Amino acid sequence: MDKYAVLGNPVNHSRSPAIHAMFRDETGQEMEYGTLLCPLGSFGETVDGFRSGGGKGLNITVPFKEDAFRYADILTDRAKTAGAVNTLRFNDDGTVLGDNTDGAGFIADLKRLKWPVSGKRVLVMGAGGAARGILKPLLEENPASLFLANRTLARAQALAQEFPETVAGSYEDLVSRGTFDLVINATSGSLSGAVPPLPESVFAAGARAYDLMYTPSGMTVFLEWALSHGCSHVSDGLGMLVGQAGESFLLWRGVSPDPERVLKALREMLRAED
Ligand code: ATR
Repeated sequence: MDKYAVLGNPVNHSRSPAIHAMFRDETGQEMEYGTLLCPLGSFGETVDGFRSGGGKGLNITVPFKEDAFRYADILTDRAKTAGAVNTLRFNDDGTVLGDNTDGAGFIADLKRLKWPVSGKRVLVMGAGGAARGILKPLLEENPASLFLANRTLARAQALAQEFPETVAGSYEDLVSRGTFDLVINATSGSLSGAVPPLPESVFAAGARAYDLMYTPSGMTVFLEWALSHGCSHVSDGLGMLVGQAGESFLLWRGVSPDPERVLKALREMLRAED
């Protein structure tokens, strides 16, 4: 039986085992997927042990995505751009492939929602790892413009230098930037109940708001703010979570699972636990 796991610390809260079990059942793949708690400072030993026990691949979560980046022998372009690895594949020839499926999972979720990016005015809030992971795939969808806003302006400016098609600024700068069709919250603000200080008139007619964070109900403080300030469609990041898992599954098994049914079941599971 091919073995996979999600590695992190902590890791027992992870939804990945439930998601991959549903993917496995749907596609009929012979595999098992568990959790692997990694002691801090022992990434290499823990992964080596998993591999020698027959492990075929790992998802990597906090705080080990940079360790995984260093561990991999071969990095995909999207892992290089993200500067972090969330998926390792242990190849039969002994090499280790490091990939990052977060950005592709995000774009897959926008497609599932039928939210277009091409020709749209896009605002990304945040300049940490979450924002970094979605910028390149977003730009590849050809938005009309991409504005990157962050509380600490220097961080947004540094990130925008790596992606010259973007314009960086502060939240105050947004007042003179008109409206946006798609506003993406890539800050960690929703974790602490904080909404970034957006101007009230930020949303264009028919605008959409996406929060990379997810909650059992599907609402976050940012999404509630968006709905009460003229935004017509909102989504939390549960679909992105399923999307990135689907991209990892494809990398390992060569099959693309259908996200819709899994997302519905996962939402019901989270609601029932809440
Ligand atoms: P991650 O890897 O999840 O992106 P991170 O690197 O800690 O985490 O980045 C968190 C992001 O959320 C940053 O852009 C941070 O803004 P600063 O760079 O100014 O710190 C942003 N953030 C966190 N709390 C926020 C808040 N209350 N309002 C606005 N932005 C916030």
